[in-house]
Amino acid sequence: MFLFNIVKKTFFGVLLSLVVWWVSGAMHFPFVFQVMFVLYVVLGVTVFILLDAPPLKPISGGFAVLGIGVFYLAISVFFVGGATVLPQYDPNVEKGKIQKILAPRLAKTEYGKRLALQKQVDALNQQAESIMDRLSVIGGTAVAAVGPVTVDSGPLDLASFGDDHVAAGKEVYNLYECYNCHKLGGKGGTKKRGPHMDNLGNILTKELIKQKIFNPMAFYAEGFEKEYKKGLMPKKYKELMTDGELEVLVTYLATLKDTSVKTPKPVFPE
Ligand code: HEC
Repeated sequence: MFLFNIVKKTFFGVLLSLVVWWVSGAMHFPFVFQVMFVLYVVLGVTVFILLDAPPLKPISGGFAVLGIGVFYLAISVFFVGGATVLPQYDPNVEKGKIQKILAPRLAKTEYGKRLALQKQVDALNQQAESIMDRLSVIGGTAVAAVGPVTVDSGPLDLASFGDDHVAAGKEVYNLYECYNCHKLGGKGGTKKRGPHMDNLGNILTKELIKQKIFNPMAFYAEGFEKEYKKGLMPKKYKELMTDGELEVLVTYLATLKDTSVKTPKPVFPE
């Protein structure tokens, strides 16, 4: 009887899993969510099946306490382990990054220019008001010199790096997350998709590095033909990056000359 129930309920569980999978897919849930929903069904059906199981021999005393302890430990390991293995996501970090990319771009649009002008006008207004205040106090005999009006620029303020183009380039490298696919100084490229960058300065000229970033199909790194054909290196940088950002990024990459790391040669397809 128990066996028959298992078969019946398993059949029901498989059916329900398929429905949940299909419905969540039709609702465009991401793949991980679909897997999670199905896991919930599996969990539910397992409990449902266990309801029919013949009763266990009751345990008591020290054994019962030990049993609870072991169960608690196992569940804790399961949840803590699961939470550690699953990727963590901090929306604020992502929002900050998007903001950093968008702000300089906004500044270049008509709307952005209007915003900057508005700021300037507000600042001038304030100064005019403070001058009027002072005039009324001193009776108009002397007016202190007014300093120049300054306008704030975007968060990724390349000028704030002064002449340190290499530091600015490093910032651009991190901002555009080149490290997602490329290893540099032993860091990044956890997905092992792109070549190591450490010796790039000896392998490619600045011109070629520029070309690769703005037009990834221009050539490919030796040994990465498959990745090249799949078009793994993103083509979005031409739209996203300003010329100033590209310039300092390439300046930085050209300084990478660690010969102990193998950075692949370029191959030009005919
Ligand atoms: C999604 C993964 C990915 C990201 C992100 C990425 N790349 Fe790449 N990149 C690749 C892959 C894969 C290759 C090798 C295949 C090829 O050459 O197209 C490559 C090749 C290169 C090469 C040629 C290296 C050589 O030895 O010839 C350069 C230079 C480069 N990338 C620079 C960058 C820079 C700079 C960034 C950030 C602005 C970046 N990449 C972001 C995947 C990526």
